Amino acid sequence: MHGRIVLLPGDGVGPEVVESAVKVLESVASVFVHRFSFTTRLIGGCSIDASGSALTEETLSACKTSHAVLLGAVGGPKWDDPLAKVRPEQGLLGLRKGLGLYANVRPVKPHRALTEVTPLKAEYVKGVDLLVLRELTGGLYFGTPRLREVVNGKLRAIDTMEYYQFEIRRILDLAFRLARTRRKKVTSVDKANVLETSRLWRQTASELGAEYPDVVLEHMLVDTASMRLISRPGAFDVLVTENMFGDILTDEASVLAGSMGMLPSASLGDGGPGVFEPIHGSAPDIAGQGRANPVGTILSAAMLLRYGLKLEAEADAVERAVDEAIAGGYRTADIGGDCATAAVTDSVRQRIRKS
Ligand code: IPM
Ligand code: MG
Repeated sequence: MHGRIVLLPGDGVGPEVVESAVKVLESVASVFVHRFSFTTRLIGGCSIDASGSALTEETLSACKTSHAVLLGAVGGPKWDDPLAKVRPEQGLLGLRKGLGLYANVRPVKPHRALTEVTPLKAEYVKGVDLLVLRELTGGLYFGTPRLREVVNGKLRAIDTMEYYQFEIRRILDLAFRLARTRRKKVTSVDKANVLETSRLWRQTASELGAEYPDVVLEHMLVDTASMRLISRPGAFDVLVTENMFGDILTDEASVLAGSMGMLPSASLGDGGPGVFEPIHGSAPDIAGQGRANPVGTILSAAMLLRYGLKLEAEADAVERAVDEAIAGGYRTADIGGDCATAAVTDSVRQRIRKS
């Protein structure tokens, strides 16, 4: 097949890890005889520097007409002024909204050779295999009003947590469908003891759950979920939650995998191109040194193959190659090794083969 892929390397370590993933995709293309063409566009801080906008119309329309988008990371200290009118993160949020990507899929499956790398006891981490589904285009990130104002001489700021029931329903529906392909359990995470949006969330989950009698539905408050993620992580199968809760819980869950640098994600909508990106940020402290862990982005490329291009065997080949490379000791510093980005990448490339 011919896959047209837009690359959005972004800021910090973004360009380094995207370059690694592209090399792996090139190996996949040659082993499995496909053609992938890559177009690179700006997003985030580098886009602000070039044009004043974190996401230009040109970048967004290139993404819209592609088959899939591979993104590195956005942001960095250079653009961090809290009073700045434009922020790199607006590029990412605009892209998610602009492409209608309401479902963020974040699998957490610690590598068997890395259970010693996490700060948690190995016996807690062993066998963990969970899928976090984070709602991505609603909630506090996008609700209005959102403003600063002076009221009776006092400065205040407002953000709004807002959800339409259809937005809750479609992400929950995906959770149930994915659970059917796994261990058939959905944990719906909310704060229904306090928030109205969460009560609507819980009600919708229960209603929808009745349509999936073969899937076990459990409701869990977000504070409890944050505790259970590290005390009994093996009990989760599919965890589904709203935007902000999902942002926080997935950083926490990444500890189970040994490092933020390990985790991939897919952001999907209804049929159009998805965005595939590691969950880590731009890591400005190590940018440009060739030391970043490329695994999160390489595994995001595997998700791109699976969900974006429907190339299942190719996705499996990448995941297997990563697995073997890590088991073979090809590891960056964040997971207890001393390899450079390029060495890990080459090791993965060499292991790409048809099964
Ligand atoms: C993530 C990131 C983003 C988010 C930031 C960079 C806006 O933390 O993808 O998890 O909060 O969604
Ligand atoms: Mg985050």
